[in-house]
Amino acid sequence: MELPPRPQLFDFNGVSMTNIFTDNWDNVQNFKARPDDILIATYPKAGTTWVSYILDLLYFGNMSPDRQTSIPVHDRVPFLEICAPPLPSGADLADKLPTTPRLIKTHLPVQFVPKSFWEQRCKVVYVARNAKDNAVSYFHFDRMNLIQPEPGDWSSYLQGFMEGKRVFGSWYDHVNGWWEKKQSYSNLHYMFYEDLIEDSEQEIDRLCSFLGLSPSPEEKERVRASVTFDSMKQNKMTNYTSVPVMNHKVSPFMRKGKVGDWKNHFTVAQNEQFDEDYKKKMKNPDLKFRCEI
Ligand code: A3P
Repeated sequence: MELPPRPQLFDFNGVSMTNIFTDNWDNVQNFKARPDDILIATYPKAGTTWVSYILDLLYFGNMSPDRQTSIPVHDRVPFLEICAPPLPSGADLADKLPTTPRLIKTHLPVQFVPKSFWEQRCKVVYVARNAKDNAVSYFHFDRMNLIQPEPGDWSSYLQGFMEGKRVFGSWYDHVNGWWEKKQSYSNLHYMFYEDLIEDSEQEIDRLCSFLGLSPSPEEKERVRASVTFDSMKQNKMTNYTSVPVMNHKVSPFMRKGKVGDWKNHFTVAQNEQFDEDYKKKMKNPDLKFRCEI
């Protein structure tokens, strides 16, 4: 497969984006959500695939084994705004999903979410990850994903992250925007990657109670065992090895799955500068506390 050159970032209504996420804009904005759709929203690299797979198993884990062994998670949970012909767009895939509920993934900042999701009062699961690990994970992802902009070296990448010059814009605006939305929209469950790492059982219980699901203890245990980092790394349906634009030799998609890997990347000076900047941008004390480690 011949790949186009790496895309360039551009300003799109105040948010840094690339064309594969804006080319289908009108269709995305006019997407017709249904009341039982579930939107999984994250800033890239916050644990989207992990939570997508958890939800998919909670809803459809008992369906035919074919589903689990032959359909990659990114087809079961389409990526709403992606548009990379000749592949079908995420909005088209989502529109045609045969399952109920439809699980749909987005990285859009809250102000760009199609209005039908709010009008239909859809349930939304938002996952946030601490800023430093999120930046590190995104850096390695941009190295291996050939349809992301060229990342450059770590030092300039981090600077760009702090300035909001990454695809889907500023991490700070993203987590803050969704946090504010939660204050007025009760169907939003805001969760944290670090909590999932620390106690996946408790987080899966919280998800179930938000979604109104009551799996048996055996079902829950099956889900928990299937979504460990090691199982997902081995599983071709969740490790993205079937995606031709990702070069797993550069960096695997299922890379480390740890909290605190930033310590292997940030210099002391970078860390001080980051903390200073973080304090200024994270005005809400609760969220500031939750998103730092
Ligand atoms: P790292 O790059 O730090 O390893 P997303 O799905 O939003 O793109 O996020 C990918 C990040 O989530 C990667 O982080 C990946 O390893 C991590 N991840 C995916 N599944 C995981 C799991 N089961 N347990 C822990 N981390 C997981």
